Amino acid sequence: MEDTTAILVVDDDQATQELFSRYLTGAGYLTTCAASGREALELFAGNFFPLVLLDITMPGMSGMAVLRQLRNSDFPPEVIMVTAVDDPAVAATALELGACGYLVKPFEKNELLIYVAHALRLRELERANREYRDNLEQQVQERTRQLEQACRDLKASQDQLLHQEKLATIGHLAAGVAHEINNPTGYIGSNLGTLTKYMGHISGFIGLLDGFSSALPPEKAVELALARKDFKIDFLVEDSRDILAECLEGVGRIKKIVEGLKTFSRKDQNTACLASINDCLENALTVAWNELKYKATVEKDYGDLPLIRCYPNQLAQVFMNLLVNAAQAITGQGIIHIRTYAENNLIYIAIADTGCGIAPENQKKIFAPFFTTKEEGVGTGLGLSIVTEIVARHGGEITVASEVGKGTTFTISIPLQHDADADQPEAATALAAG
Ligand SMILES: Nc1ncnc2c1ncn2[C@@H]1O[C@H](COP(=O)(O)OP(=O)(O)OP(=O)(O)O)[C@@H](O)[C@H]1O
Ligand SMILES: [Mg+2]
Repeated sequence: MEDTTAILVVDDDQATQELFSRYLTGAGYLTTCAASGREALELFAGNFFPLVLLDITMPGMSGMAVLRQLRNSDFPPEVIMVTAVDDPAVAATALELGACGYLVKPFEKNELLIYVAHALRLRELERANREYRDNLEQQVQERTRQLEQACRDLKASQDQLLHQEKLATIGHLAAGVAHEINNPTGYIGSNLGTLTKYMGHISGFIGLLDGFSSALPPEKAVELALARKDFKIDFLVEDSRDILAECLEGVGRIKKIVEGLKTFSRKDQNTACLASINDCLENALTVAWNELKYKATVEKDYGDLPLIRCYPNQLAQVFMNLLVNAAQAITGQGIIHIRTYAENNLIYIAIADTGCGIAPENQKKIFAPFFTTKEEGVGTGLGLSIVTEIVARHGGEITVASEVGKGTTFTISIPLQHDADADQPEAATALAAG
C-alpha cells in the first residue's frame, strides 16, 4: 500500500527544496528531496511516491528526461513540473509527456497546495480505476472459469440424459420383445422336452423290435434289416437326440437373453429393503461358483459395511455379471479379488481380475447394450449394460480400469443414503444369471 502523502521534490536548488518542504510538511505531507534527475530516479526505484514535483532545468539529466522515464514506469506517479521556464510550448510538451500540472516559479503557497491536492486526487482516482480494472479482469476470469465448468457440467448432464433416454427406449423395446418372445419360447422349450421324451420311447421301441427280428422268417428279417439301413434309422435316432439337445440348449440361451432384457423393463414389482452388500456378493458367488471354480482363486476383502436400502437380488445380479465376466476374461488360472469398503458416505465394491484386460478403445463401448468381444453363443453383450442400469437405479456409478494383458478392475460406488424406491416406482424383480 503506497503512502498517499509522500511527495518527491526534485530541484537542484537547495533553497527551493527547503521552501517546498516547509510548505508541504506544514500541510501534512511527507517530503523527500532529490538534487538531480539521477538521484530522483534512484529514490523512485526503491520507494513509492504518488507525486513528484519536478524542476526542468537541472544539471545532468533534464526534468523532461526524468518525466519521460517516470511516465514509462509500471505505475507512473503524478508529476507536476515546477519551473522558472514560463513558456507555453514547454508547458504543452510537459503535459503531452504526461505531467498533470505546470507551475511557474515564483508561486504562492496556496497555488502549490491546490496543485498538489489536485494531483493526489487524480492519482487516487487512477489507483481506484486500476484496482477496479484488475478486479474486473479477475472477475471476468473467474466468471469465464465458472461458465466453462457450467458448460462441461451441462454437456455431461446432456450425455447422461441421452444415455438414459437411450436406455429408456431400449427398456421399452426390450420389455415388448421380452414379452413377445417369452410365450413361444415357453412352448417351444416344453415341446422340445416332450419330443425328447418321445424320442426315448421310439428308440426303446426300436430296441424291442431288434429282439423280435430273430423270430421273423429269414427273408423278412433281411428285408427289415435293409429297410432299417436304407432309412438310416439308427443314425436318425442318434442324430435326433443331438438335434433336440442342441435345440433345448438354444432355448435355454433365448430364455437367458429374455431374462436379461426384462431387467430394462420396470414392469415386475419389487420393493427395496435393508440389505448387506457383502451378503449380495456371497449370493452372487454361490450362483456363479460353477463358472468360477475352475478358472480363478477368489480372494475376499470385505469391509465392515452398514446395511443399505437397496434391491439385493438386482445387486446380486450385478455382481454375478461382473464375476462371470472376470472368469471369462481369464485364460488358464487367475485371481479374482473382491474388495468392499465404505468411504465418504459411499459403499465401494471393487472386483478385480488378472484376465486379458480391455483395449483402451473398447473401454467406453463395453457398457453399451449388445457390445461383446466374445464368440457367438458365449456373450450377448447385455451384461454390463444391465449392470449400469441397476447401479444407476441405486444412485451409484461404475468405473473401469484395465490394462491389456494384466487385468481389469470394475469399481461400483453406491451412496449409503439413496431413495431407491423413488427411482423405481415399478421396480424390476431379481433376474436369473446374466
Ligand atoms: N473383466 C473383464 N475383462 C476383460 N474384458 C471384459 C471384462 N468384463 C467385460 N469385458 C468386455 O466387455 C464386453 C461386454 O461385457 P458384457 O458383460 O456386457 O457382455 P458379454 O460378457 O460379452 O456378454 P453377456 O454378459 O451378455 O454374456 C465383453 O465382451 C468383454 O469384451
Ligand atoms: Mg458378461
